[in-house]
Amino acid sequence: MNLHIVSGTANSPLAEAIAAGARIRPTPCSVERFPDGELRPTVQSGRGADLYVVQPTGPVVNENVVELMLLLDAARRAGAARVTAVVPYFGYARQDRRSRTGQAVGARVIIDALSNAGADRLLVVDPHTPALEAMCDVPVEMLTAVPGMATRLASSISSETVVVAPDLGAVKLAEHYAALLHASVAVVRKTRQSGSSVRAEELVGAVEGRAAIVVDDMISTGGTIEAAVRTLLDHGASPGIVVAATHGLMIGPAVEKLAALPLQRLLVTDSVPQETPAPLPREVHSLAPLLAEAIGRLHRDESVDDLLIRG
Ligand code: R5P
Repeated sequence: MNLHIVSGTANSPLAEAIAAGARIRPTPCSVERFPDGELRPTVQSGRGADLYVVQPTGPVVNENVVELMLLLDAARRAGAARVTAVVPYFGYARQDRRSRTGQAVGARVIIDALSNAGADRLLVVDPHTPALEAMCDVPVEMLTAVPGMATRLASSISSETVVVAPDLGAVKLAEHYAALLHASVAVVRKTRQSGSSVRAEELVGAVEGRAAIVVDDMISTGGTIEAAVRTLLDHGASPGIVVAATHGLMIGPAVEKLAALPLQRLLVTDSVPQETPAPLPREVHSLAPLLAEAIGRLHRDESVDDLLIRG
């Protein structure tokens, strides 16, 4: 089976960098847009191939999800022997359960749609919830960017640094960073009022006079990070706070909110395209080496265990 990498339109620079890392050229593919908004992708080769479709489902989420489904179907119909959906940022992962009666479980719906469209396997990076795996009929490899991000953060670490989870859902992630950086952990307890409004309720852990690194899986509107940073400052943490999040979506007022904070560094990956310039101390860690390594190993039927999220 030959290795093929197909790029959707959601993040073609990342797909090209992954292909370069895997020492191949992306398989020619086009996505035609009809006047009424319909999409029609064509995958131009791939018969008998081990084919990887690279398409994060960040904003515009629904457009990118539908394009991914159509690309998977196109790859299957082009005769690929095995099709893997490479979804560096998996939108809808926050909808992994109902928080009130009558809601949809969006993550489940999207996972089912991708496997029905032709995905034999999913490759995702730091998804919001590990529950994705249990929802999915096909194998899901959940890679993590944390070791690579932590290496870049090492220069900001002192013996007093504390890694901060900005909500309870980020505690495992914070523990992973803290283990790699030999730092302690603090946790902000957050409540969410709406999709764009959160409140920090309390802080657990010692932060007074200490440098802090706030870590999260994603920054959407910036409300969670803003609330955590303000809470840290209220509790006497040193200004010059570092923020690291795998997925920097930066929706709506996010840039403005984060620019108003005394941040020393803001580290995100290129799971979704990162626009520059912005009035932020933003650094972008590329996922291309991680994804190229994982795709190469999966293609050769080798283990990717050491690249996965810790259990
Ligand atoms: C939610 O639990 C996630 O881990 C993030 O904390 C959240 O989605 C970030 O959203 P926002 O930036 O809008 O607060």
